[in-house]
Amino acid sequence: MGALPVVAGIAGLLLTGGASGGPPSNEPCNLIAAYGGIFEVPSGVEVEVSDDNRPGLLDRVHACVESELSDGASTRYRQMAGTLTGPDRSSTQQAERNFVEIELAAAIAGTDAAEQQRQVARRLARGQLEFDEIVKRQGAGSVLKDSSLDQDRVKYRNSVAAYQKSCVDAGVPVPGPLATDPAWNYGGELDAEADRYFFRADWNDAEVWTYRGAASGGFCVMLVRRKANKEEQYAGTICTDRLQTNACFFDNVVYDGSGTKRIGWEDFKKRDFGELVHPKDGQDFCNMCHLGNNPFIVHPGTTLGKVVKSMYAADVPNSQKFKFVGLGDEPSPWFNFDPIVPSSPGGCFTCHGLPKITSGRFCAGIVEIAANRTMPPGHWPPEPQIGAPWFWPDSNGCFSEDLAPLADYFPSLVKLQSVCSGKVEKICQAQ
Ligand code: HEC
Ligand code: HEC
Repeated sequence: MGALPVVAGIAGLLLTGGASGGPPSNEPCNLIAAYGGIFEVPSGVEVEVSDDNRPGLLDRVHACVESELSDGASTRYRQMAGTLTGPDRSSTQQAERNFVEIELAAAIAGTDAAEQQRQVARRLARGQLEFDEIVKRQGAGSVLKDSSLDQDRVKYRNSVAAYQKSCVDAGVPVPGPLATDPAWNYGGELDAEADRYFFRADWNDAEVWTYRGAASGGFCVMLVRRKANKEEQYAGTICTDRLQTNACFFDNVVYDGSGTKRIGWEDFKKRDFGELVHPKDGQDFCNMCHLGNNPFIVHPGTTLGKVVKSMYAADVPNSQKFKFVGLGDEPSPWFNFDPIVPSSPGGCFTCHGLPKITSGRFCAGIVEIAANRTMPPGHWPPEPQIGAPWFWPDSNGCFSEDLAPLADYFPSLVKLQSVCSGKVEKICQAQ
């Protein structure tokens, strides 16, 4: 699950850019779990987890999730955390304590962002820390039960059929197995463009498939990613009705005993979609990134972007807000956000809207990367440039002087940053 060394190297240079550019790094909330890995945002670099860096990473996640707690929740959290009885002297024990406290804080905070951090922690712990044993050693059984989320790891097993029925009822096709359903179409290889996509570190073997539902006219796009030397393979599928007002999400993850497991491509191809886990039992929160007027994330001009767009029945209005079919119930509902209403429609808002999501992760993972890789269209070279100034306002709302040709976009990026951070817009005094 490591970044390709060369990619890590480029990002390293970008990250050390400091005043001369490059995204900020090492902030507590800059880790996200996606596509089976952990990524730094906004650099989009996959983190290679080892015994050496795991404790430090857990510290960051811990700090982030605690910052998600409101005052009242924070008091409750401290009380509950105070009852943990396990040892926390050695670094392993501290890591275990961190892990339990992250679970606890996430359960109490109940926000999407906190839930996301819980996923990062679980991914960090996977294969290293055994959940049930840690809970026992840390004397955390009763507090986690009180927070009523001790059993939430596989909660929706019995809701899969109902979920898929609500998809079909909403005009969203649920495809048959890739190996036997003739409506699946191969859309092409993506490897050659790996550098243009966001989560590129492990895209050494990627392809796209499409599916058209004969009855509904709705369609699906599947993104398949394999890694040269890894067993883990990803096949995420998004299906939507003809006009993209509703969407359903699938991943190549199945139920396995009391948990879930990701299955390989050859196995997945033969599976019925009814065997895949309910999205909320999945390993990735698709709703963290797939938001806005339509469920897809499109970089215009790329093979993936062209294939996705070739399926559209009509242009999707900017003001539309697609719905996550059947996932809106408590706890942790999946929901979409209204479009941002900018005071002036220019800059980044000239061509499209963007959702008014108030979590830094979407901004860092999607908008900020777009602004430095593909947006505005035609401006950026196909490969990210080493040491290039970072196209995002600094804490004073200012941009690097080298970006002067893009000045028309500054106000819209300041607006986006303010929406994402929940802080008031800072207009640069010097520019
Ligand atoms: C951290 C953000 C993030 C999360 C979480 C995420 N995706 Fe994506 N996804 C992207 C981005 C960005 C793209 C566009 C390709 C790229 O740039 O890497 C994409 C592309 C796709 C595509 C190709 C069609 C398109 O929209 O371009 C599919 C299908 C897909 N994702 C499915 C899923 C599913 C299913 C999940 C949940 C199991 C998921 N994704 C979770 C960010 C995310
Ligand atoms: C000249 C038109 C144009 C301008 C200006 C522009 N974009 Fe885009 N952008 C596009 C198109 C076209 C897409 C593909 C959208 C689609 O097909 O759904 C896109 C997609 C995106 C996406 C992916 C969203 C998704 O859900 O598919 C993001 C994020 C984005 N743009 C951010 C920006 C930012 C930030 C700026 C300003 C720096 C910007 N754009 C300026 C045309 C533009």
